[in-house]
Amino acid sequence: MKIAIVEDDINMRKSLEISMSDYDEYTIKTFKNAKDALKGLDDSYDLVITDINMPGIDGIEFVKQLDGKFDVIIMTGNATLSRAIDSIHLGVKDFLLKPFDIDTLLDAIKRESVVQKVIASAPKKAKKTLKDDFLGSSKALQKSLNIANKAAKTDASVLLLGQSGVGKEVFANHIHKNSLRVKKPFIAINMAAIPENLIESELFGFEKGAFTDATQDKAGQFELANGGTLFLDEIGEMPYGVQAKLLRALQEKEVRRLGSAKAIKIDIRVISATNANLNEKIKNQEFREDLYYRLNTIPLSIPPLNERKDEILEIANAMIEQNCKKYDFELKSLSQEAKAELLSYSWPGNIRELISVIERSVILSDTQEIQLEELYLENRK
Ligand SMILES: Nc1ncnc2c1ncn2[C@@H]1O[C@H](COP(=O)(O)OP(=O)(O)OP(=O)(O)O)[C@@H](O)[C@H]1O
Ligand SMILES: [Mg+2]
Repeated sequence: MKIAIVEDDINMRKSLEISMSDYDEYTIKTFKNAKDALKGLDDSYDLVITDINMPGIDGIEFVKQLDGKFDVIIMTGNATLSRAIDSIHLGVKDFLLKPFDIDTLLDAIKRESVVQKVIASAPKKAKKTLKDDFLGSSKALQKSLNIANKAAKTDASVLLLGQSGVGKEVFANHIHKNSLRVKKPFIAINMAAIPENLIESELFGFEKGAFTDATQDKAGQFELANGGTLFLDEIGEMPYGVQAKLLRALQEKEVRRLGSAKAIKIDIRVISATNANLNEKIKNQEFREDLYYRLNTIPLSIPPLNERKDEILEIANAMIEQNCKKYDFELKSLSQEAKAELLSYSWPGNIRELISVIERSVILSDTQEIQLEELYLENRK
């Protein structure tokens, strides 16, 4: 197994190099910063272990730039909640709290290696997405679902609010699938994932020659979504300048490609989502109040998982069943202690975190009954 370790602290780096050199089964390469690692990493690596607090590109930004290409374990001295949530959002597999001894690190690496092997051995069925089957049936969720179902039948703009991983995208899909637009496209665009200077051309398209790289005409997402639903994810990250253009497009129901004078009629329903506090952003003049009102015809808050505790075990059991099928295991169950832990843990990463914790514990548990320790939640607290 070839492992990259990214750590700015020279003592920590050297001590990891020395202690890991005793193990022939691991080839270790250390990097003193994320920039070097980004240059040096290639397909030959199986795992990346990175510090979070580093000068230059920090660990979270680094993981973002890896873009899911590697499995990542994070080691951190002071895990703040928001960074833990960011790492879960980015699909980080494990956390190590500094200081840790080498056995803790080895255990984490071994777990990762087992998980990778099991995942690789699973039959390559089309990956089942949960996008349109809702799990969970708490009262709190039911309330949001009722609003969503009513909104679905209309063309009103819906603004989905809620913490990372609560299911905003799942709701957006659900609304589209239950609307009259279901046969038309559902197009999602994530403001946080597109470089700021490209958002406008992505949304509205461009004519050949509109800017240096515009070698041919291109339709924007607005046009592509015509007749259907446009999902504007992480709307709070939309650059202020583009917000005015978005508002105009929504009000006039037409768009102009960059570099073109021709208006194109569009008929779309807009769903937007954010986990940011838009009122705060409006106060700081980062978000336009007029756009906020245009997007927020129907505000829909999705409660965090820790306010939906009554569905934790239901989702966990459904995920256990699904994963046991996927990996061809006999059906597993949760021990009483494991259940109690799932119910008392705070789930900062919400359903996304629950799903990933369950998948790992299904893979890693030694017996048919998943034990408390096999949830590996203790480093997250
Ligand atoms: N009710 C649900 N039933 C089943 N799976 C769910 C449910 N809610 C969310 N999920 C799953 O949880 C994960 C996170 O959901 P989703 O991407 O919709 O969250 P989000 O609110 O958009 O998060 P973020 O703000 O981080 O983008 C996805 O894998 C999704 O399929
Ligand atoms: Mg989302």
